[in-house]
Amino acid sequence: MCGIVGYTGKRQAYPVVLKGLKRLEYRGYDSAGVALRNDKGLHIYKKKGRVAEMEEDIVGKDVSATIGIGHTRWATHGEPNDVNAHPHKSNNGKLAMIHNGIIENYAPLKQDLINKGYTFSSDTDTEVLLNFIEDIQKNNHCGLEEALRIALKRIVGAYCILIISEDDPDTIIAARKGSPLVIGIGKGEHFLASDASPIIEYTKEVVYVNDYEVAIVKPDELILKNLGNEKQTPFVTKLDMDLAAIEKGGYEHFMLKEIHEQSDTIFDCLRGRLLPESGQIMMSGIEDNIDMLKNANRIVMVACGTSWHAGLIAEYMIEDLCRIPVEVEYASEFRYRNPIINKGDVIVAISQSGETADTIVALEKAKEQGAFIFGVVNVVGSSIARISHAGAYTHAGPEIGVASTKAFTGQLAVLAMMALKIAKAKGTIADDRYIQLMKDLYNIPDKVKEILADTSNIKKIAEKYKDASDFLFLGRGYNFPVALEGALKLKEISYIHAEGYPAAEMKHGPIALVDETLPVVFVATKDSYYEKIVSNVQEIKARKGQVIAVATQGDTVIPSMSKDVMFVPDTDEVIAPLLSVIPLQLISYYVGVAKGYDVDKPRNLAKSVTVE
Ligand code: G6P
Repeated sequence: MCGIVGYTGKRQAYPVVLKGLKRLEYRGYDSAGVALRNDKGLHIYKKKGRVAEMEEDIVGKDVSATIGIGHTRWATHGEPNDVNAHPHKSNNGKLAMIHNGIIENYAPLKQDLINKGYTFSSDTDTEVLLNFIEDIQKNNHCGLEEALRIALKRIVGAYCILIISEDDPDTIIAARKGSPLVIGIGKGEHFLASDASPIIEYTKEVVYVNDYEVAIVKPDELILKNLGNEKQTPFVTKLDMDLAAIEKGGYEHFMLKEIHEQSDTIFDCLRGRLLPESGQIMMSGIEDNIDMLKNANRIVMVACGTSWHAGLIAEYMIEDLCRIPVEVEYASEFRYRNPIINKGDVIVAISQSGETADTIVALEKAKEQGAFIFGVVNVVGSSIARISHAGAYTHAGPEIGVASTKAFTGQLAVLAMMALKIAKAKGTIADDRYIQLMKDLYNIPDKVKEILADTSNIKKIAEKYKDASDFLFLGRGYNFPVALEGALKLKEISYIHAEGYPAAEMKHGPIALVDETLPVVFVATKDSYYEKIVSNVQEIKARKGQVIAVATQGDTVIPSMSKDVMFVPDTDEVIAPLLSVIPLQLISYYVGVAKGYDVDKPRNLAKSVTVE
């Protein structure tokens, strides 16, 4: 949520910062702005709307500078407009700051500053923090770095901030707590950003800044300190990512590219881990902790959004195969509701970004109470990956479209391997079923490819129903969470109201909504619930609902009862969601496009929700 970029070195900073902001726009797109410093002083340019609108506005202005910071905003405090856009300037005009996060105790600080004569042009908590720093500098007669450290000890909340000063020609001061910050190390230059995507084309050497660290960044020097002013050793890691992964590669949208990448990304996730020939699953995070996992009293899945849906499917997988009780929690509820955590509980954190604020705090809380944390995370080196005791990456590569697609199927692939591995160690799965499921999982990438080979039918269906005002998504068993995910995708991308429900439960309410105008999407693949869902389809048909089905290739019964059908290849029901979700991703995509919406950046959403 909010993207930040900074540069100090020999190059022109503005093009580097601008390109970086375009890469980070998925994190928020309410407004954009840059601050540049040259011999003439600090220059701040900012504008409501997308980065491109800011860029247009800047044409012809003075942008020559070798140090600069930039911000793309997802509004928290103050509506999206030019004034609330970052960067903000301090009252004395000497400091410019950008911020990702929320300062919770900004109100009393603001009142104090107003009493002292400070004025504020925006409604943001950021401007309060900046003037608070200026005030400390003035009162304590100290430098910016020290004033920042004092300020950070007195604020409550989350932040990643970058500050430049008129008095310093080449230093960016940065700090983080709760919101991510990566620093790229070049030759005589440094790059700062919320994630590695703005950095990757310049250098692969990066440092992930930790919570409560302050970074003093000059072209030739990077100093990290804790809030107690003690130097910390920067831990340099090498990025395992290439530029092509963060570009559209000929697709009209990132979302479409990411949907189409899924046969490769699932393959990458399974590669080297799932070995059906030898009956082995190689996952060191599980192997090293197998006793803890197989003897867990219960497993609690903690996640948000689409990742939460992956947790629901994992609940079915693990209870079914491993016979371990599983609970699935919204991180935002779990963190506040005084949950019972006992010794022997395992928390599985599922997150694409690894930076979701609610999930991070929920984990920290569970960790404090002695739980073992296993992370299923996509972004390498992210906060959740680092908080976890052990884990497995999903290896889906950078996901840029705000609505999650390939990260979700990556999560399912990891969770399926995890369930299989624990079941095998625990002896709760028969050998032949274990081997068969491994083979079925191994064949999933090819089956995904088959679905994606021709999507014209799905596009036609999307165009046919694009003007509906509501949709119902129904499924049973493993396909029930898929129905939830289908409804979420449609809401996110096409702004059509949609509900997901267990197909049988719809008789207890949603059936009242059914008439000849309501499209009802059934996720009705051939599984152990098949006969039951056939009856549910009849119930909807009897009330004249427009039945659209996701059905198994070769099935004739469900198609004969449906107005429109999207076929998927057959597979074991445990891993069927890896296939049945794909037509639902595509239908949302095509409805969104048909309605003329920006599917990669849907209104009000952000990819990485770093505020609670
Ligand atoms: C946001 C994104 C969703 C994502 C959710 C959880 O709402 O728009 O696509 O599923 O956050 O994010 P995480 O990175 O923790 O999986």
